[in-house]
Amino acid sequence: MKKTREELLALLADMSIEEKAGQLAQIPIVACMDGVSEPTGPMEELSLTPEQVVLSGSVISVLRLEAEACAKVVRQLTEAHPHHIPPLVMKDVIHGHQTMFPIPLAIGATFDEKIAETLGECGAKEGAASGVHVTFAPMVDVVRDPRWGRVMESPGESPVLCAAMGAAMVRGTRGEDISAPDRIAACAKHFVGYGISQAGQDYAPIDVSHTELYNTYLPPFQACVDAGVDMVMPAFVGVDRVPCVCNEWLLKDILRGRMGFEGMIISDWDDPRQLIAHGVAEDQREVAQLCLNAGLDMDMMSFAYLTELADLVREGKMDEAKLDAACLHVLELKNNLGLFDNPVKNDSDDVQRAVCNDPEIHKAVYEAALKSCVLLKNEGALPLRQGCKVALVGSHADEHAILGGWTLDAYTERTKTLLTSFSEDSRITLTTPEEADVILLATGEKQADTGEDCSKAHPFLTAEQMDELRRLHALGKPVVLLLFCGRPLIITEALPYCSAVLNVWFPGTEGADAIRALVMGDENPSGHLSMTFPRALGQVPIHHDRLSSPRPWKEGAIYVNRYKDESNFPLYPFGYGLSYTTFQVDAAAESTTITARVTNTGSVVGETVVQVYGRIRHCSHIRPDKRLLAWQRIALQPGECREVTFPITPDMLRMYDAQGKAIEPKGVCDIAVGESSDVPYTLEVTF
Ligand code: NOJ
Repeated sequence: MKKTREELLALLADMSIEEKAGQLAQIPIVACMDGVSEPTGPMEELSLTPEQVVLSGSVISVLRLEAEACAKVVRQLTEAHPHHIPPLVMKDVIHGHQTMFPIPLAIGATFDEKIAETLGECGAKEGAASGVHVTFAPMVDVVRDPRWGRVMESPGESPVLCAAMGAAMVRGTRGEDISAPDRIAACAKHFVGYGISQAGQDYAPIDVSHTELYNTYLPPFQACVDAGVDMVMPAFVGVDRVPCVCNEWLLKDILRGRMGFEGMIISDWDDPRQLIAHGVAEDQREVAQLCLNAGLDMDMMSFAYLTELADLVREGKMDEAKLDAACLHVLELKNNLGLFDNPVKNDSDDVQRAVCNDPEIHKAVYEAALKSCVLLKNEGALPLRQGCKVALVGSHADEHAILGGWTLDAYTERTKTLLTSFSEDSRITLTTPEEADVILLATGEKQADTGEDCSKAHPFLTAEQMDELRRLHALGKPVVLLLFCGRPLIITEALPYCSAVLNVWFPGTEGADAIRALVMGDENPSGHLSMTFPRALGQVPIHHDRLSSPRPWKEGAIYVNRYKDESNFPLYPFGYGLSYTTFQVDAAAESTTITARVTNTGSVVGETVVQVYGRIRHCSHIRPDKRLLAWQRIALQPGECREVTFPITPDMLRMYDAQGKAIEPKGVCDIAVGESSDVPYTLEVTF
């Protein structure tokens, strides 16, 4: 039985100041185990006392977590705590746990919320089985700069897509009740604007207007809050030059007040202490004051709350009511997770192993990989002909590490490589490039080059990879590029040497078999880009929903919004993706409803993503020329035609001014319907 609010308040009233301050601290699980930690951020030498360890409200795991070892720590800490309050175990379960889904940017490319929900569900199942209570996911930063390594963790550049995918992941992760044995709590991050990091550099400053916050960066978080997200993590960056972690306006007025978030707020790794590096706080004492006053509940890994808060309260420098309010948020989350009854979701390594071998999870992971790969170019080289001789070469041909960043608990070395998968296929013969009819070049970024601290000034194929491509092309046979990446790579230079390009991102545990099925034509590619692929680095940031220009680009015109030395257009626009079949989309508007008749005009079964874009024609504020409003994934047999309808509602086109006041769409709105963002306006709806 969960505790009632009265019981929680009674517990709180009975706790000492040290106990309450302890609840607000997160320490590494390794501090409670034998062995050494391998932190994800700078970690000063730990000098925690045994008492501080016992009083800590949460432990974070950044190493592979085993159920029995984790359960032991949780039980020991619970037993030793004066009020037997169990610790929260938290971990980054970002795109699966041991069985990995494709990276979140690839999940965005499925345009399929069901897949995002299943990802959440499977991650929760495996996470819970290894002892995790809370995951630091979903990441719903809107991302527009491929230089930033963390774009791989986001569903992409569209606030609407990020909102839909983020909310789906929250639903899947937490289900209806996070006390269920196979569910865990979800944390939306990084609040807010981390994706704007200047020049694509991690931990760089950002500058964001309030209008952009309300219109672009807050909506995905609002969607997660509405979906019941349990926790929110402020970003490493600052808004209005106040670091998010101690930004009272952001945490109290916006997150709690405007957005209605009632759960727990946790800092990012060591972020409170980083206020000292910023020169915003002088010492840990001031850190603790600033953060608690601003409404930060839990301090991840900087120990300022653990070492300073109790004294501050005793000296009358901190209002105890603030400590109580934060502590109550932590206790509520523990109560929602059912931890007071049962602090451990699973304590058996055998059960953990069995869950991770669940064929249903592997099936879902395979499906996700199939639907996330994006066919960017195809001059007929794909699918491969049965009986042909194939050379499979490149850095990723025999590579197990095709999972992407944030794969702390995955068994990378057990992931099938492309070479193993293709050698299991009797319909083709593997041979050398010289002997082959067609060459598959599997290359791109290394798994370790994506994620946190993986910014790049040169998001291209490397010089060696380009040399290899040119060498293979010179053999005079079709070269199919299987592109591995955690971000849009700028492949303009590579394109002329490729007969086909299949962008496979980092496709996850079942990636090799999924890629083979697509290449062989057993399955049909249906992913659509979740981020624009730039033609040149100088175009960055380039995204489909850029604000309009007073001098829009026009063919041949000068003194318009253009480059002297480069086209305005991306290499591949947001929403783009080819198939082995073709589709015709005929759309019509009746009142505010759009109907799209979609026909499979080719000869094989296939799926496409019908996308609706829009803009308000006249309005007091500058707005995007084109913005994704809605989409539907649709599967069609050859020759089959189906209608899909999209009711266009004012909230899809609503904007906000700098004060966050809604500007409702009035009058004519232009609507475009098609299979990518590069589709002209042909329809109107009127509000
Ligand atoms: C730092 C990252 O910014 C954040 O996303 C992650 O959840 C924490 N480290 C914990 O690993």
